[in-house]
Amino acid sequence: MKNFTYCAPTKVVFGRDIEPQIGPELKALGATRVLVHFGGGSVQRSGLLDKVLSSLDAAGLSHIELGGVSPNPKLSFVREGIELCRREGVDFLLAVGGGSVIDSAKAIGVGLATGNDPWQYASTGTRPEPHETFPVATVLTLAAAGSEMSNSDVITNDLVTPWVKVGITSETVRPVISFLNPENTFTVSKFQTGCGIVDIMMHTMERYLTGEGNAMLTERLAEAILTTVRDAGRRAINNPRDYDARADLMWASSLSHNDLTGCGKTRKFPVHKLEHPFSALHDNIAHGAGLSVLFPAWAKFVVRYDTMKFAQLAERVWGCPMDYDCPERTARAGIDAMQRYFMEIGMPIHLHELGILPKDYQPIIDLTTAKGPVKSYIDLGPEEIHAIYLLAE
Ligand code: NZQ
Ligand code: ZN
Repeated sequence: MKNFTYCAPTKVVFGRDIEPQIGPELKALGATRVLVHFGGGSVQRSGLLDKVLSSLDAAGLSHIELGGVSPNPKLSFVREGIELCRREGVDFLLAVGGGSVIDSAKAIGVGLATGNDPWQYASTGTRPEPHETFPVATVLTLAAAGSEMSNSDVITNDLVTPWVKVGITSETVRPVISFLNPENTFTVSKFQTGCGIVDIMMHTMERYLTGEGNAMLTERLAEAILTTVRDAGRRAINNPRDYDARADLMWASSLSHNDLTGCGKTRKFPVHKLEHPFSALHDNIAHGAGLSVLFPAWAKFVVRYDTMKFAQLAERVWGCPMDYDCPERTARAGIDAMQRYFMEIGMPIHLHELGILPKDYQPIIDLTTAKGPVKSYIDLGPEEIHAIYLLAE
């Protein structure tokens, strides 16, 4: 197990009927004027926004609203948010929505606190980190990205050609408090539920499959999350109002990306780095759908470099009997089982299902490798990435 520092400072308030606690909690955290940030309308239709505003009013907190965050949130809108908050004297950001809304709020917070454009901190590790931000709270409505506890903030720069989607990674951007009411995810569509299931699994598996020795407890925690999500995912897809299934997905979303399942391992996230250029260049591609296509193809490409770990995962999570004579057979059976599961929950597994055809490959490869190869078991340069795409056709 490698040395590590683990700090997950986000306070979590979890369960039914927690919305009245939002105002008092924010007030206790020093908020005086709150930006309530949300997306394209789901929180208005569900009535959640009204509950949130009532709670702020009851606590005597003044607030302004900014809706309209799009999936794969855009830098141009973040800049509008920063201007608005400066004009209005906002000192606290409350994101009511999924990962995109939370990430937009995080970027606004960084811009407000540093006085710099948040894009200057978006990096794959080469730019400076922001060292301050305005506090961000979340009211989560979609179990998926894990941004409600994560140190990541993924933004698309829509002001350059082609668009670029990368993350600000910094301890600074972890939300100070997240309100997780599983009932707020009852209205999530089957497709978005499926995207969330895949994303949660990926945040766990990308930390599991790193090619390093053993971090046994960390791996067992990861397997618990994966098997829970596997079963709860099926139940939530079949019955969107299954509270316990939604609750397990929601808690798994947070635990899969607050670094608990990465303790003692190195964070590389190659499949995320393969996916982000897809949703940058093709804005209609949901992050989880892109991962659903790319992860099995990546796994088939690299399985030979970490056969025993893939086989362990296959046995413990996907129920594949261990073939001690040929563990690679078990490892590959596990990848096939995972892919069948993705199909079962309605997720795409081929590039053409994302609308991506061979003529589209080169621009995506160019963007993916613009700063050099993607680090994985081996470096993934243009040739290797093309080979992965062929496995996803
Ligand atoms: O905009 P609204 O109307 O709210 O609709 C959203 C959106 O259309 C809808 N939705 C959300 N909650 C709902 C709901 N519809 C009905 N009922 C509800 N309760 O779902 C759609 C997708 O929302 P979005 O926030 O985009 O999805 P998700 O949570 O999957 O976030 C995806 C974004 O997060 C980034 C992704 O790259 C992508 O940009 N990620 C952020 C991470 C982080 N900050 O730690 C890590 C992830 O790996 C990921 O990269
Ligand atoms: Zn993700």
